[in-house]
Amino acid sequence: MTATSLPPSLIRTLSGEHYTDPAIFALEQERVFEAMWFCVARSADLAEPGQFRTYQVGRESVLISRSRDGSVKGFLNICRHRGAKLCLEASGEVKRAFQCPYHAWTYGLDGKLVAAPNLTSMPDIDRGEYGLVNVHIREWLGYVWASLADAPPSFEQDVIGAVIERLGDVAAIDNYRIENLEVGRRITYDVKANWKLIVENFMECYHCATIHPELTEVLPEFADGYAAQYYVGHGAEFGADVQGFTVDGGEGLDRIPGVGEDQDRRYYAITVRPQVFINLVPDHVIFHRMYPMAPDRTVVECDWLYLPHVVESGQDVTRSVELFHRVNQQDFDACERTQPAMSSRAYAKGGVLVPSEHHIGAFHTWLQNKLSA
Ligand code: FES
Ligand code: FE
Repeated sequence: MTATSLPPSLIRTLSGEHYTDPAIFALEQERVFEAMWFCVARSADLAEPGQFRTYQVGRESVLISRSRDGSVKGFLNICRHRGAKLCLEASGEVKRAFQCPYHAWTYGLDGKLVAAPNLTSMPDIDRGEYGLVNVHIREWLGYVWASLADAPPSFEQDVIGAVIERLGDVAAIDNYRIENLEVGRRITYDVKANWKLIVENFMECYHCATIHPELTEVLPEFADGYAAQYYVGHGAEFGADVQGFTVDGGEGLDRIPGVGEDQDRRYYAITVRPQVFINLVPDHVIFHRMYPMAPDRTVVECDWLYLPHVVESGQDVTRSVELFHRVNQQDFDACERTQPAMSSRAYAKGGVLVPSEHHIGAFHTWLQNKLSA
C-alpha cells in the first residue's frame, strides 16, 4: 500500500530510518535539543553554592551549578584553554571554583577565569574573554531549563504555552505549586529506544487497555483508548471505587492544598516538547525528563513530587510510586520491543496511526518542520 492509497482513518507515521539513522539524530540534536529549551535539573538538586550537575544537551556537555549569588548558572562544560572537559562527574560540589583537570585553569562559580598557573606571565590575557561559555537558563516549576541557542526561543511560548495549550490556562498548573513540592522518589530508566518512540507512546492511550492493567483500573476511561491529552483541559476521572492514584487504588497521600474541586480525583498529562512529560494527580506530580543519548538510547529521569511534610515525615509513598513506575516499565518495554523493528524492511515506509492516535501526526509534522528549517 502506498501513502496515497491510505484510507482517511489512517495517517502514516515517520519512516523507520527516523528512529535509527545517526544523521537524522544529529540533525535533531542540532535543531531541536540545542535550539529549544531543554529541561535539565531539579532546582533543589543544586541547593547550595558550588553544587553542580553535568548533562548532555544535544551534542554538548553542559555544566549547571548554583552560583554564590544564589542563581543557577549554565556553561558549556569545556575548558577555554585547550578544550578539556572541565567537570567529569555527573554531579558534585566544589568549594569556590571549578578547576580544569588538565593544566589547572580555574573558573569561579560565575564562570569567570580566576586563576591559571603562571597567569602573571600572561598579563595580556583577558579573564572575561576566557571565561566559560554561558548557556541561557530559566527556572520554572522548580526545574532548571537550559537553551544553547544564541537567541533562545520564547520560554513563555514554547514551555509555558505548551502547558496552557493542554490545560486551558496556567492557573491550572500553578494550583499544584510544583516548585514547592519535594522529590519523594526518583527513578532513572535507561531505555534502549529512540526518544520519539517514547514521546509517541506517552501521547496516546490506544495501548492502555493492552499493557496498563493497573492504570486502567484507576482510570477506567483509559480502557477506551483515548488519552487524557487528547482533549484540551480534560483530566481523566478516577474510577468510582478508587480512593487514590496508587497501584491498588487505595488511599493516597495528603492532597495538595491548591488543587481545586474540579481537579480533584483527576489525572492530567502534559507533553512539553521536546523532552518533558508532566502528570498531575491530586496528591502528587510525576515529572519526566528525557535525555536522548543516541538514536537507539534515551535516559529518562522520573521524579515523584509530594508535599514537603509527606517526604520529610517519611510517610510511605511506595504504593503511590509503584503505579506509575509500573506504567513506565510497561511503556518502556513496549518502546524497546519496537526499536529493533525500526530497521526492518517491514517498517521502511513507517506504520500507521488510527484516529485515536492522529494527534501524534501533529508531533511528526512539528518535528519535520524543525528538521527542515
Ligand atoms: Fe583546561 Fe588546559 S585544557 S587548563
Ligand atoms: Fe502508556
